Order: sequence, then structure tokens, then C-alpha cells
Amino acid sequence: MASIQRTRMRENWKELAKAWAKFMPPGKPSVGEIAFFEQEIKNKLENNKTPCALILGSTPEFRDLLAKYGINTTIVDINPDSVRAMTSLMALKNEKEKVVISDWLNMPIKDGTFDFVMSDSAQDNIKFSEFEAFFEKIARVLKPGGEWFFGAINVHRDDVISFKEYVDSYKNNPGKFNDFRYFLLQIIRLAYNEEFYNEENRLFDFHKIELKIKELADKGLLPAEAVGKLTIGVDYQQPMLSEEEFKNMLSKKFTLISEFRDKTHPAMRLKWTAILKKA
Ligand SMILES: C[S@@+](CC[C@H](N)C(=O)[O-])C[C@H]1O[C@@H](n2cnc3c(N)ncnc32)[C@H](O)[C@@H]1O
Repeated sequence: MASIQRTRMRENWKELAKAWAKFMPPGKPSVGEIAFFEQEIKNKLENNKTPCALILGSTPEFRDLLAKYGINTTIVDINPDSVRAMTSLMALKNEKEKVVISDWLNMPIKDGTFDFVMSDSAQDNIKFSEFEAFFEKIARVLKPGGEWFFGAINVHRDDVISFKEYVDSYKNNPGKFNDFRYFLLQIIRLAYNEEFYNEENRLFDFHKIELKIKELADKGLLPAEAVGKLTIGVDYQQPMLSEEEFKNMLSKKFTLISEFRDKTHPAMRLKWTAILKKA
């Protein structure tokens, strides 16, 4: 999740690497998602032995996959510390990997360069008002018929819980919140609640949840340890959309080719993984 990334960005790259190594899907690509993308890469290699790929960010799981097939890879990341940290976690070395330090929205890359682009929840780091421009930029750097291997943290509008339900789920079974992924599922299900969500810019404010949880703890209505269990501990906001909204927006530039649903943990329902073809 960007929350972890952003917090750690202010720390040194070794801390960031440690945090990423411990981090879990849906916050990073799962084994199943990697296998889903790998199959598509194998299909591509049958027709084109030298595809060119772009990775948005420096996700080591993606870079190792492309290294395995010796694919010409460009990674674009705005933060050199992040690149260094993620590189330290790679199992393989890709002699054909190039690093570009840039913002994705302005990356200095010619139109029609790549056969495919890979990203995992990259849009968490972008303002909703810039989503259209971001999708347009990805479409532009792809060759005609190029594909976007896309992953999004999202939550369905009908999967939402109220703040009371969130707190009650902790009170009824605090032990479940020791599972980071269960915590993630529950906290993200608070999206679209008016008090934490701005519909106009689709911004979900995790910090406002923290303030309310602290208030309950201060009043003695929650034990002190609940604050650490029910909050992410940083002042953090990110855009949050439903899968339907993503599909609608992306359909202006891309055609949906296939989708993958990881069922290994209930929290994986927060992840939509898809292969999109430039329309
Ligand atoms: C690809 S995202 C994905 C990982 C995770 N889902 C997350 O949101 O943190 C994280 C990476 O994107 C980079 N990044 C964030 N915003 C960026 C931007 N606008 N342009 C280029 N890189 C960016 C960060 O430096 C970080 O290495």
C-alpha cells in the first residue's frame, strides 16, 4: 500500500526494503497474480521473442518475473530510494532492465514504445482528478494492441460497513485483527462512509478513522491497544473506487481481455487484477 511506501520513503531504503518484504497481498502482487501475468507473457513470447515492457514503480515481484524471461524492461519510479530498496529484494538480475526516475504522468518516453505495461495499485499514488490523464499516458506509451497488466485495490459499494460495525467487529473478535490482511479488509470497507470519504475527489481519509478511534479510546470505550490495531498510524489519504468505476473509466481507452480473482484470503476480494488491451 502506498501508506507503507510513503511513510518509509522518509526513512532509509533498508527500512523500506524490510517493510516491503513483510508486506502482504493485496498490498503487493500475490503468487496467483504473478502466475496469471506469467501465462500471458508466455503467450506473448510465442509471437514476439523480444517484447518491451514497462513497470510502473519498482515492484520486485514484477521485475523478477520479467528477469526470468530476460525481457527488455523499463521501470519508471519517482523515488530513487524506493528503486534501491526494491532492487535489494530481487532474486534475479535482469541485464535488460533500465531505470528511469520520473513521474508517470510526465515520463520521458516516446509514444508506442511498449508491448505491455505492468502496475500494481499504482493509481493509489495519483489524484483522482489525474486518473484520466494517467490512463491516457499509459495508452500512449503502449504500441497498438499493447496490453496493461493492471491491479487495483478497490471495494464494492455494497461491501461497505459503518464505523460502528468496524468497531464492533474488533470488540467481538479482537484476535482477528492480529491478521494484517483482515484489518486491511475491514478498514477499507469503511470507504464511502460520508465521514471518511470525499465523493468528489474519491479520497478516502484513513486519518479521520484514526481520530475517531482515538476519541473512543480516550473516553475509555475502547482499550488503548485497540488504537494500534484499528488504525494505520499515519496521516494518509488515497483515492478509493469500486471495480465498476475502474472498469467504466478504463473502458474509454482499453478493452478488458481477462480477469483474475485470488481467493486465497478474504482480503483478496479487495483486489481486481486484469489484462487490458489498448483499444
Ligand atoms: C507502484 S506503487 C505500488 C505499490 C503499492 N501498491 C503502493 O501503492 O505503495 C509504489 C511505487 O510507486 C512510486 N511512485 C509513486 N507515485 C509515483 C509517480 N507519480 N510517478 C512515479 N512513481 C511513483 C513509489 O516511489 C513506489 O516505488
